[in-house]
Amino acid sequence: DKAGHKHFMSKEIAEQPTVIGNALAYYLDGGNIDIPSDALDFEQVDRLTMVACGTAFYACLTAKYWFEQLARLPVEVDVASEFRYREPPISKGTVALFVSQSGETADTLAALRYCAEKADRIVSVVNVPESSIARESDLALPILAGAEIGVASTKAFTCQLTVLFLLALKAAKARGTLTDDQIAKHLADLQTMPGLIQQAMDLAGPIRSAARQLAEARDILFLGRGLMYPLAHEGALKLKEISYIHAEAYASGELKHGPIALIDKHVPVVVMAPRDALFEKTVSNMHEVMARNGKVLLVTDRQGADEAGDGAWKVLRMPPVSPTLAPILYAVPAQLLAYHTAIAKGTDVDQPRNLAKSVTVE
Ligand code: F6R
Repeated sequence: DKAGHKHFMSKEIAEQPTVIGNALAYYLDGGNIDIPSDALDFEQVDRLTMVACGTAFYACLTAKYWFEQLARLPVEVDVASEFRYREPPISKGTVALFVSQSGETADTLAALRYCAEKADRIVSVVNVPESSIARESDLALPILAGAEIGVASTKAFTCQLTVLFLLALKAAKARGTLTDDQIAKHLADLQTMPGLIQQAMDLAGPIRSAARQLAEARDILFLGRGLMYPLAHEGALKLKEISYIHAEAYASGELKHGPIALIDKHVPVVVMAPRDALFEKTVSNMHEVMARNGKVLLVTDRQGADEAGDGAWKVLRMPPVSPTLAPILYAVPAQLLAYHTAIAKGTDVDQPRNLAKSVTVE
């Protein structure tokens, strides 16, 4: 049932305020994060290893920034297909964390089994609570996104981020790296997310008009720095999955180390840049793109648009958001860009060619 939407993907994008609200209601008990400490005590942990595939991998990559910055916990992140065959050493103080919407991805499950006898704890962040990955974990944390039918993952991604952020705050509390006041502030910010996502949905109009031109492109680049770097990857993945346009993500600072050679007037460049501490650095990379006639689509907030919007091909003005939480909010324009570009091209949004919803063979 598409609830009046043309596609499951647009229904699932629109559901994000509700399902994130559900996840928050499930995990927050007053100012407390309700994740049992006897099942996962971050005081005892000295390393976190996160493993996943595809979109879930980009959720892990985002969470690495959170665990490192908020909880000062060393984090390793890898795609499951590489991790499982590399035979990485796993020390006893390691928590191994697996993120999977379906809970049945073959490579992720194999990576979990590799860690089973070695890590201190096996934790998973899953959408399907009765899945293999959930069942084989010491602790399985549901993301409560509800059934996700569209092959391209949308609401599962933002729910994964929500749960991973709560986990990072929990780690920060146990390790004493944030004060109670700081944690309360982050939680208050997180609780504004459903409302902010609802506001970001209003950008569908300008995104649709940009998408008509993006649909003509052969290649599209996504740039981001810091927390926007993993999201740039997610934006590029979404776009190539459903519109079949070649899209790549780069860390903004890597541009001049090679990819800038690709830039000319035919290459649209999506720059994800809220007005945060790294904004000016990203803007300077954006100017390097403009100087080579690259067509910049800048996704930023009002302040960012006022400071740096001149010369951009298009500017999407997002609601202001705490920089730490920006990846959850900025996932929405990334999803909508892919969706509307695919619609403009006339591709099958919910059932893209060559892809399966659950990858149970390696
Ligand atoms: C992207 C997408 C895939 C999955 C990946 C992992 O839109 O859907 O990249 O994210 O196959 O699947 P799960 O999360 O089920 O392990």
